[in-house]
Amino acid sequence: MNIVILAAGQGKRMHSDTAKVLHALAGRPLLAHVVAAARELSPQRICVVYGHGGEAVRGAISRGADAITWVLQEPQLGTGHALAQALPHLKAGAPTLVLYGDVPLIRAATLKRLCAAAGAGMAVLTVELDDANGYGRVVRKAGAIERIVEQKEASPAEQAIREVNTGIMVVPTAKLKSWLDRLSNDNAQGEYYLTDIVALAVAEGMGVAGVQPHAVWETLGVNSRNQLAELERIHQQNLAGELMGRGVTLADPARIDVRGRLACGRDVAIDVNCVFEGEVALGDRVSIGANCVIKNTRVAAGTRIEPFCHIEEADVGANCRVGPYARIRPGTLLAEDVHVGNFVEVKASAIGAGSKANHLAYIGDSDVGRNVNVGAGTITCNYDGANKHRTVIEDDVFIGSDTQLVAPVRVGRGATLGAGTTLTHDAPAGELTVARARQVSIRGWKRPVKKK
Ligand code: UD1
Ligand code: CA
Repeated sequence: MNIVILAAGQGKRMHSDTAKVLHALAGRPLLAHVVAAARELSPQRICVVYGHGGEAVRGAISRGADAITWVLQEPQLGTGHALAQALPHLKAGAPTLVLYGDVPLIRAATLKRLCAAAGAGMAVLTVELDDANGYGRVVRKAGAIERIVEQKEASPAEQAIREVNTGIMVVPTAKLKSWLDRLSNDNAQGEYYLTDIVALAVAEGMGVAGVQPHAVWETLGVNSRNQLAELERIHQQNLAGELMGRGVTLADPARIDVRGRLACGRDVAIDVNCVFEGEVALGDRVSIGANCVIKNTRVAAGTRIEPFCHIEEADVGANCRVGPYARIRPGTLLAEDVHVGNFVEVKASAIGAGSKANHLAYIGDSDVGRNVNVGAGTITCNYDGANKHRTVIEDDVFIGSDTQLVAPVRVGRGATLGAGTTLTHDAPAGELTVARARQVSIRGWKRPVKKK
């Protein structure tokens, strides 16, 4: 099979410098959703007809891009003209499925039914709408599809038809050239309408099947920011439904956003307003508090992420407690039973099992051992203004509050650092190291008094 994705339209109503098909739905360009659905059908060819946005459009669909044939349509003279540009790249012996780059929620299962209905002939995906305004209408005679008439050409009687053309259709490729050659742009919009090939097929005695999708939302297009937001909500509701269907507890299925893939174990619970980006995997019994943003991260079984955490490219072990208000940055590896508390930032660091940094700390470029206690206000000074250096804290270390560790520096196993220490040399194992001015009390000292 050939698949042609029409994506050259301008998208004027988006009022944007970005090509319409590059606007994001669930964190991915609209066009990427369509390409993904197309790939599910394992076609021999995927052609994308692009125009507006040019190279940016090609660049955005980089993954597996070698399998896509890019066809520039310039200028854009209508959907029939768009398909004609792709024609030289299509395998004549196989049917051609036409998709729209701005109809992102189409499901492969529906497309498979459409292809099956077409057989060696033609099939059009249609829906019944209460408000068919703006769409091409499907004109039937004795139940059979006869032609498609665009809104602007439709008579009042035709305008009353509620069955509309979604634009998605399967056509016999070998016939396309003669049909597309015969299209005229002598119509209300001065465009070559792909829809006119329906009447040409019927005139040749070819039956045109009409197939309906499982749900109308599959065929909704994005022409404005309003429609984009509507489709985003529909899509997120669908994803939330799938998660719940697989046993995930969602405090409110209307308040979760998945922008990528979210894999969940058993009895996972997710509170409101969480955003998951990229590839996120949550193990059994993980609970995610309200208002967390989690990106490209794995969280192992039994861990509790408290509200308002931001976690990115991290590996969080089992039975950890993170947050509230923790920031876990890329390259963080927490072993099991680690506690990272409020206003603690961790970056490019490994923290060993049972260690705790419960309050107000920065741990960057560090290797922290097991059962380490990092006191409130502890900071690893990892950056000297030019280079980053590592801090090593061995097992069973106790770090007093408000300590600065000026990297590169190592704290030996079982060492204790006194509160307020600024550590600039390695601290020996098992001993107390303290670096601060000795406490003095000045007897008889008087506070100054204000001069009259
Ligand atoms: C089209 C159909 C209409 C259908 C509607 C469904 C035609 C003539 N009409 O109308 O029957 O009800 O879609 O949404 O086909 N495109 C190009 N190059 C062009 C023109 C369009 O690539 O020169 C692409 C657009 O990017 C878009 C798709 O084709 O993805 C549809 O174009 P659009 O202008 O939205 O078609 P409509 O006039 O809405
Ligand atoms: Ca449209």
